[in-house]
Amino acid sequence: MKLTKVLGTVLCSAMLLVSFAGCAAGGSGKDKVGVSMPTKDLQRWNQDGDYMKQELEKAGYEVDLQYAANDVATQLSQVENMINSGCKVLVIAAIEGSSLGEALDMAEAKNIPVIAYDRLLMESDTVDYYATFDNYMVGTIQGEFIKDQLDLDNADGPFNLEITGGDPGDNNALFFYQGAMDVLNPYIDSGKLVVVSGQTEFSDIATASWKTENAQSRAETILSSFYADGTNVDAWLCSNDSTALGVANALAANYTGEYPIITGQDCDIANVKNMLDGKQSMSVFKDTRTLAAQVVKMVGQILSGETVDVNDTETYDNGKKVVPSYLCEPVFADANNYEKILIDSGYYSASDLA
Ligand code: BGC
Repeated sequence: MKLTKVLGTVLCSAMLLVSFAGCAAGGSGKDKVGVSMPTKDLQRWNQDGDYMKQELEKAGYEVDLQYAANDVATQLSQVENMINSGCKVLVIAAIEGSSLGEALDMAEAKNIPVIAYDRLLMESDTVDYYATFDNYMVGTIQGEFIKDQLDLDNADGPFNLEITGGDPGDNNALFFYQGAMDVLNPYIDSGKLVVVSGQTEFSDIATASWKTENAQSRAETILSSFYADGTNVDAWLCSNDSTALGVANALAANYTGEYPIITGQDCDIANVKNMLDGKQSMSVFKDTRTLAAQVVKMVGQILSGETVDVNDTETYDNGKKVVPSYLCEPVFADANNYEKILIDSGYYSASDLA
């Protein structure tokens, strides 16, 4: 790292410490923490919320946990209520990264520190820290899996590929896409991978709200327009499990060719079951317990004026600043290792997956 960058980071940490020192009650155990989650519709956010609440309470904080039903206006008013009801720190997983400006301005006026949880809050100076998984690495794991399974360096090909990405308002979606496409693009350029639909740009492959139904209806259109004559789709890059479910549903109803490689992310129960049934090839495990524990630690550090634990001060630029981040490590998951990483670790019980 260059010396100027190191000095910048040190200076930045020192400034953050000074600005928080006046606003925290010193982790007295009575401080209230606001936790704003996007939706209960997707399994992972329920787990994230549960762990956050449990761990924050264990650490002695009062917790105001809210889910916003994927509605931006609801999330905005929930965060404003958290500010008005005296929360000392806000932990926010945004529905739409750029939509909470008003609430963030209020937080800034009251000197309330904000941690962006899993998804970066965009276009605001008020985001103090970001805790997430290494989102680019998630995409890399997915892209490498397709590369290895199709043996792209040795096999003759060409192989057919389709791509289903995430929500355009979620900064993570771009990182997942970029991580995977940086692996796959050279093979698309050389003609070894062919995207038969021609849809490769992020704007073409995005899935509004990450919804299974939206991914399914686009996949149905692709299958009926380009694969109805029996052409095989060899691999379908899906950025996460909710979109992978949509693609698997579309294939079940509209496809007669050989079943493709399908990627995913999150290890949702429905998708682990699909992996065991051979309907999804892999997922990426992001242990929400690790992320929640990290965020609880950061909350404690902020409230007691300690240096906050970050491991990345370069990657996550939200349009106004590079947000000091802590990146947890995502783990490859498939039907061969799920027992070890999901059941032995206590994340799921065997009966959850039966
Ligand atoms: C998260 C993914 C999740 C997706 C949809 C992303 O921001 O990082 O884990 O699958 O949102 O909820």
